[in-house]
Amino acid sequence: MSERRVIGSELLEQARQRGRIVFEVMPGDIVTAMATETAQRLGIALLDGPIEKPAHPVTDGATALRRGLYRRGAKWIAPARQQNRQVKRFGKIAVVGAGGVGANIAHLAANNDIADEIALIDISPGMAEAIALDLNHTSGITRTKTTVTGSTDMAQVAGAAVVIVTAGRARSPGMTRADLIGVNKRIIHSVGEVLKVQVPNAIVIVVTNPLDEMTVEMLQVTGFPRERVLGMAGTLDSSRFRASLAKAASVTTADVEAIALGSHGDEMVPVTSLARIKGRAIHELLSPVQIEACVKDAITGGGQVVALKKSGSATIAPAHSSVELLDHIRGAKCGSVPVSVMLNGEFGLNNVVLGVPASIGMSGLLEVEQMPLTDHELQLLASAADSIRQRLGPQ
Ligand code: LAC
Repeated sequence: MSERRVIGSELLEQARQRGRIVFEVMPGDIVTAMATETAQRLGIALLDGPIEKPAHPVTDGATALRRGLYRRGAKWIAPARQQNRQVKRFGKIAVVGAGGVGANIAHLAANNDIADEIALIDISPGMAEAIALDLNHTSGITRTKTTVTGSTDMAQVAGAAVVIVTAGRARSPGMTRADLIGVNKRIIHSVGEVLKVQVPNAIVIVVTNPLDEMTVEMLQVTGFPRERVLGMAGTLDSSRFRASLAKAASVTTADVEAIALGSHGDEMVPVTSLARIKGRAIHELLSPVQIEACVKDAITGGGQVVALKKSGSATIAPAHSSVELLDHIRGAKCGSVPVSVMLNGEFGLNNVVLGVPASIGMSGLLEVEQMPLTDHELQLLASAADSIRQRLGPQ
């Protein structure tokens, strides 16, 4: 008879890391209450053993060696099943607004070689042209095939599969994003009028603030379906939330899974109930005070950069977060990603643009993912929706 084991959470976590979804509990084994909870959380079934095992397959030498080489240790994770997924390269994408965010988006997209052409457009003469020239000068080193063009002419968006709109006034210290609503609404309207005519089938990614409100304006002025007007904020807010959690727990961000939803502003909803550090619920590793500080850090992250810069807002993280959406659209990244979209009943909300988890692809929004949020988180989403509606006024 084999020894009786005490099965605790750690054993199950290790099994999950090795890709196991069932755990055999032999007669006499003791399963702790915490382990039962962990099994539920990780989706591991605890089965009464001994389980009848299938006959041992006969494996040829080469396969046995390959498997042996892959099983490197307790942290080994089974490779994901090959997915029938094709990574696309864009023919043309356009970036409207060649300020800090637009220029960094063009830089990252050109460096990652994700499109044949990137059209950069800015109202200020010479601005987009200069950045395009500067970026093209890098190709002798990067050897990428992307060509960047710069222009003041909005008609240069023609032929773009995706248009990223960053044009607009940025915050100064002390301002909220909502303070920009009046000035940036006019910009979104004039850009949207051109997009409607020049790229009637494009996906539009709105980056201009206040993000959720400007996405509503873009939907209205273009008349595009909700699938093709996406607001970029959740990728940025989630990244800030992950960075803050990682710092608080003294781990790297690779160990952190977390998402921020809701508005891109004071009513942001960093989702603490689903956040994980090394696969464990964050409250197992961080105190309530630390978690609250991380939530606040995510909400105020953009403002912290504005306060330090004195003029202008963050540019690098927003650009990475925009390229993250491009990567999801072209299939280079898969799974759900937070994005601001018009809601049609998801999370009990209608007729409002809000950051939610979604899957996106070459046709834009594919599906909003109904994540299991707590009642409190759902309430926070609903009040974010109310605030956005109030700021927009009667539509
Ligand atoms: C930020 C601005 C870009 O959050 O909204 O940094």
